[in-house]
This record gives sequence, C-alpha cells and structure tokens, in this order.
Amino acid sequence: MTPIQETILNKKTTNTPIWLMRQAGRYLPEFREIRKNNPDFIKLCLNETLSSEVTLQPLKRFELDAAIIFSDILMLPYGLNQKVEFKKDFGPQLGDLNIEDLVKINETEFLKKLDPVYKSIKKVSEQNLINNKSLIGFVGAPWTLLVYMINKHSPKKELEKKFFENKNLIKKILLILDKFLKIHIEQQIKNGANVIQIFDSWAGLLDENDLPNYIYNPTLSLVDYVKSLSVPVICFPRGIKNYKNYCDVVNPDVVNIDYDVDPISISKLINIPVQGGLDPKVLLTDISNLKKQALKYLDIFKDHPYIFNLGHGVLPQTNPEMVDYLVKMVKDY
Ligand code: CP3
Repeated sequence: MTPIQETILNKKTTNTPIWLMRQAGRYLPEFREIRKNNPDFIKLCLNETLSSEVTLQPLKRFELDAAIIFSDILMLPYGLNQKVEFKKDFGPQLGDLNIEDLVKINETEFLKKLDPVYKSIKKVSEQNLINNKSLIGFVGAPWTLLVYMINKHSPKKELEKKFFENKNLIKKILLILDKFLKIHIEQQIKNGANVIQIFDSWAGLLDENDLPNYIYNPTLSLVDYVKSLSVPVICFPRGIKNYKNYCDVVNPDVVNIDYDVDPISISKLINIPVQGGLDPKVLLTDISNLKKQALKYLDIFKDHPYIFNLGHGVLPQTNPEMVDYLVKMVKDY
C-alpha cells in the first residue's frame, strides 16, 4: 500500500504524505523549457512522451508521495469536439457549444481523441520513480465543466443570469458529461491511475439551494462510480460554504479543503480523511512564514488522517526551493 492509500484506507495519522496540486507546471524551469518548444498546450497534453516526462519532473526533485498525470480537466470538452485553446495571460478559451453535435459523439471517437492521455498514464505507471507512490488520475466535476462549456472561459466572481436561461440545455449537457466522465475515469484507472481526484473549482459560484441539482447529485454519481471500481476518490469543491454538508451528501473518501475555510472547524466537524488547505501564496513569502503556516496545518490535523497539499495549485511565480523546503518539512514532522 502507498502512504496515501494508508492514510485513506487505514486512516493512518502518522507520517503525513504530501503531493501538490499543479506540482508539474510553470514554476519548474524544466517544465518551462519543454513548454517553450510546445506552444500548443492541448498538443502537449496529447504527446505521451512529453506529458509523461512532465508528470515525473517534480518527482525527480522532491520526495512527493504521488504523481498527478499531466493533462487538464478541459481535455473532456476537447474529447467531446468542443474547441479548446489556452491563451497566454488569459487562460482557457472554448469554442461555441453545439448540442446537436454533442449528442452525436460516440464512445469510440471520444476514446480515440483522448487515447494519448491514457497511454501517458500507462507510461508513468511503469516507471521505477513511481514505486510506492500513488498515481492520481483526475476529472473536472460536472458543474465546473458545465461552467466552462457554456461560459467558454473562466468566470469572474459570479455567473451572468443568462447562464441558467436554458435549463433544458443544461440538463442535456449534464447527462452527456456523466456518461463521458465515467468513461474517462474508467480508462485512467485501467491504465494505472490508483486514486481519482474530482476538481470542482467553481463550486463556490452557486447558492446553497442550487447545490443538489448542479453539484451534489452529479458528483455523487461519479463518486459512486469510482468507488464501484475499488479506487479511492478525493473531491475538491473549492469555495463551497458548507464542507460538512458536502461530505455528508457526496461522501468522498477524502475531501480537499481550500484556503478560505478554517482548518480547526474542519478537523472537528469532518470525520473523513482531509487533504490540503495551505494557501499557495504562502510559498511566495519566506521560509520562516512557510514553516509557521505549514506547521499550523500539520498540528491541527495531527490526530486526523491527513494528506498534505495546498488550498489550490502551486503558483507559477513559486521558487522551487520553497517547495523543496515544504516537502522536507512535512517528511520530518
Ligand atoms: O500538476 C497538476 O496538477 C496536473 C495537471 C493539471 C493541469 N490542470 C495542468 C495545467 C490539473 C490537475 C489541472 C486541473 C485544472 N485545469 C483545473 C482544476 C484545478 C484548478 O486550477 O482550479 C482547472 C479549473 C483547469 C482549467 C485550466 N487549465 C485553467 C483555468 C488554466 C489557465 C490558468 C493557469 O493556471 O494557467 C489551465 C492551464 C493549465 N493546466 C496549465 C497547466 C500546467 C498552465 C498551462 C501553461 O503552461 O501555460
């Protein structure tokens, strides 16, 4: 069993394991070097030689307990034939959504488009570097993907009213997402992913009374599916106001918390394993502050099954030496 599996399945509370969201990415010079010669982000994700290499880059530097496959949650709409581009200093830009085309997509076509992602996972799983470490596959939660597919770029603080105008369209998209997210999860697991994380980056945009329709029910369907394949599932409903309710209804194996929630109340209220929390901006400060802030999380969760991680992804401006310090510190705790 890997340290992460022991924390999740055996509820072990000693030797806190650590991995970081966006541990492979722009803060690493060796990633920027590859990125420089590969301006098309989607193509990079679909190059199994390079994407597997990028996945392993942080493991060569730091004693992390997991690799997360280098891909993106927006590979799913790409697989469904919606145009997806990543623009420098802007982020993702999606093309128009055509529901008639979307309902026509079949599984074979979808799998053919995303095949390099699965090949990349397979490649990573065969490396010695991954011995005794977890290999994390992931998907975007249906709600967050719906936001991107309709809004076509990252939303600002709130969604426009017209987002919810066509309820029928939303229903159709959610059904299609449920089907293809399960296919995507199954393929990642078949090719070597042994933990699945579901990213709901825009969970915080919804009011409490919209949660059952857009978050609880669609996510529960995926969580139950991952569990049926005997693989643990981590959910990250970023920005949600009531993590306790979320855990009671969705019941993931692990919940990742964001940096706005109070970790003390989480440790008291939530009785499933917890992951994450530390504000990634702390990695932009100095060693003594990093030590203080990281110790806070380690101390609060010392008697709780806990996987060290951040409250969101590593920022591009981060100095890799700060990451090195953090990983060593968690290992020495
Ligand atoms: O190391 C890892 O975490 C694995 C790879 C990974 C990426 N994206 C690579 C990536 C993962 C797990 C994701 C998830 C993802 N993608 C989420 C959920 C987590 C979150 O950040 O909230 C979301 C919302 C996306 C969509 C997305 N992809 C956005 C909004 C952006 C632009 C903003 C940014 O951070 O640049 C991306 C691009 C992206 N995905 C990059 C990487 C390494 C940067 C691309 C580059 O090199 O320019």
